[in-house]
Amino acid sequence: MQSERHGVVIGAGTMGTNLARLMLRRGMRVTVLDVNAAGLARCHKALQEEAAFSQQARFVTAWAEVGGCDVVVESVTENLELKQQVLAEAERHIDVTTLLLTNTSGLEIDALAEGLAHPERFMGAHFFNPADLIPAVEVIPGPSTAEDSVERACDWLRELGKRPAVLRQGVPGFVANRIQHALMRECLALLEQGVVDAEALDDIVRYSIGIRLAINGPLRQRDLNGLDTHLNIARYLYADLENRTTPGPLLEQLVADGRLGRKCGQGFHEWPEGDAHAYERRERALLERLLAMMDDAEE
Ligand SMILES: NC(=O)c1ccc[n+]([C@@H]2O[C@H](COP(=O)([O-])OP(=O)(O)OC[C@H]3O[C@@H](n4cnc5c(N)ncnc54)[C@H](O)[C@@H]3O)[C@@H](O)[C@H]2O)c1
Repeated sequence: MQSERHGVVIGAGTMGTNLARLMLRRGMRVTVLDVNAAGLARCHKALQEEAAFSQQARFVTAWAEVGGCDVVVESVTENLELKQQVLAEAERHIDVTTLLLTNTSGLEIDALAEGLAHPERFMGAHFFNPADLIPAVEVIPGPSTAEDSVERACDWLRELGKRPAVLRQGVPGFVANRIQHALMRECLALLEQGVVDAEALDDIVRYSIGIRLAINGPLRQRDLNGLDTHLNIARYLYADLENRTTPGPLLEQLVADGRLGRKCGQGFHEWPEGDAHAYERRERALLERLLAMMDDAEE
């Protein structure tokens, strides 16, 4: 599948690399721009195996080397001022019709749009890691985003095989991160109280609500169970659920101790180097199989 379209990814990190991979796999020409030459080289190496690689991908450190493009996805470090600067710089080099998207995990779109000359073609497009595999993309228009731009962004995302979902208004963390953090706040509280250990908690969630959430989503799942039953449980349970407004001691301690997860070899679980790579390969393979099954079921 070859397309004439040219996409620019700003930021060659975890997300930028998989965004570029996604575009290459869908036959798009891609330029990855990063100010950090070492990061750019890592991204280049990671994408070398893509079949379309040689003609379709470029890795640059400055806009002067980019040329005309249809879509720009900003995916640099999650920092408001940095993103504002990077977006303003991008605007100086692109046409007024080029879509300008930010992959922020939850910064306010209005704040990011401050200082843009053409905010009507700017919006959030929040991808999920690994961005080449996970289908959902939250699309977050700002107050100045034109409807036509939102439609064009959704069309482009569908061309990439994604399932864009447009939010009616921006809220911190958008939808998925709000739900993920609500879930994790409760998980952390259960660990702190010693109700379960990490192994048991993961097992309970994966093999109970986890598998059904992937098939149904939370709301359809509750419809299947009955909202009257849900209400009865909610009446006695809400008062007991975790509702702290700042991160608790367990998370603070893990981070202070350098137990950051897979990248440091330890988090809630142990991650010996070789095992972590094998786990990632297995996770990718499982995701691909699961998504293929879900696609088949929808046809
Ligand atoms: N990692 C995730 O799971 C995830 C998921 C969804 C969205 N996001 C969002 O995607 C964005 C990128 O996250 P990541 O995990 O890839 O981060 P990362 O730290 O892996 O990569 C960030 C990259 O931005 C580059 N960068 C910094 N300043 C730059 C500049 N001025 N110009 C060009 N490049 C610059 C850095 O060199 C680095 O390569 C963030 O906004 C993050 O919140 C991350």
